[in-house]
Amino acid sequence: MKTLISSDVRLLADLIRKGGVVIFPTETVFGIGASSFNEEACKRIYKIKGRPSDNPLIAHFSTIEAIKSVCEVSEVAERLLCEFAPGPITLVLPKKNQNVFPKEMPTLGVRIPKNPIIREWIEECGSPISAPSANLSGRPSLTRMTDVLRYFDGIVDGILVSEEPSLGIESTVVGLYEDPPVLLRPGSIESDQLKQFLPNLVLPNSLTKGGEFVPPSPGMKYKHYSPQANVKLLPSDTFVSEFLKCGSKSNSAWIGFSFGPTDEHKKPTQTFDPTRMKLVSSNWEYSSALYAFFEVCDQLGIETIYCEEPREKTGKEGLLNRLQKASEGN
Ligand code: TXA
Ligand code: MG
Repeated sequence: MKTLISSDVRLLADLIRKGGVVIFPTETVFGIGASSFNEEACKRIYKIKGRPSDNPLIAHFSTIEAIKSVCEVSEVAERLLCEFAPGPITLVLPKKNQNVFPKEMPTLGVRIPKNPIIREWIEECGSPISAPSANLSGRPSLTRMTDVLRYFDGIVDGILVSEEPSLGIESTVVGLYEDPPVLLRPGSIESDQLKQFLPNLVLPNSLTKGGEFVPPSPGMKYKHYSPQANVKLLPSDTFVSEFLKCGSKSNSAWIGFSFGPTDEHKKPTQTFDPTRMKLVSSNWEYSSALYAFFEVCDQLGIETIYCEEPREKTGKEGLLNRLQKASEGN
């Protein structure tokens, strides 16, 4: 299949209206989308990704008004949208229009992407765009155009070229379909910010019944965000000491805040390959770089990726969640 790669929103909207599948960038990660009113096109997305059929898609809108035409928007939901949207937040709301994909579900995840060009494209499509992250199911979401092309050129109908994702991890997902509200997936908008609007918000680590993990959303029961390499999540001191011990091994890669003692006289004497090391200076920079680094490592055939724990600062919640998920089972 010939994939149309273009920044022309009208051409790419045409593809959607004809039932096509189009990849587009958002401020979080790339999405792979189809019209929310075209069930067949939405089902093609599951096939392309290898996504389990019981994991619903979120729908992307250009305005709050458009969300109101298909969902019940409560007062608090509206206040959250006014505060955080357009932006990296997805609200799961009761559905009003049963024709929106997935038809059988009583709720719908809704999100308004930040980039005005993407909103213009959605407007031009004439329908909401149902889209999961553009990646193979279980693998890390994609944040760079080069990776999108490597996986999906020739597989999807179109790729909309615009600003690449900057946040690097997927949106915060909040369930507002029952009381109390539930944080279904942590992200860049953090629980402290949400609690100003939702004081009784239930957080993921308290989502247990009788000690057993009960997945609150279908997406939470699957393994996620994992590169082919093993991921090891280490506290700062262990990260540095392990790096000094095995950083020169060509099958290892490292992402963190420091690669050696800060004391000038104790600087490591070995030379290290910079392509296998990613130095970051904040949790935000770490999130932004993480999935792209995982992709680089998989292309290099790295066996183990060592990741330093995030700092006790803003931007920790979503990042720590993705690092924990990626390191599960290692
Ligand atoms: O940042 C993002 O959210 C990106 C960009 C493309 O918008 N999208 C994304 O979609 O990450 P996806 O499908 O990879 O993750 C959406 C999550 C999944 O864990 C899914 O199970 C959950 O939201 N979800 C979607 N609809 C739901 C619903 N009706 N009820 C509960 N959970 C839902
Ligand atoms: Mg995903």
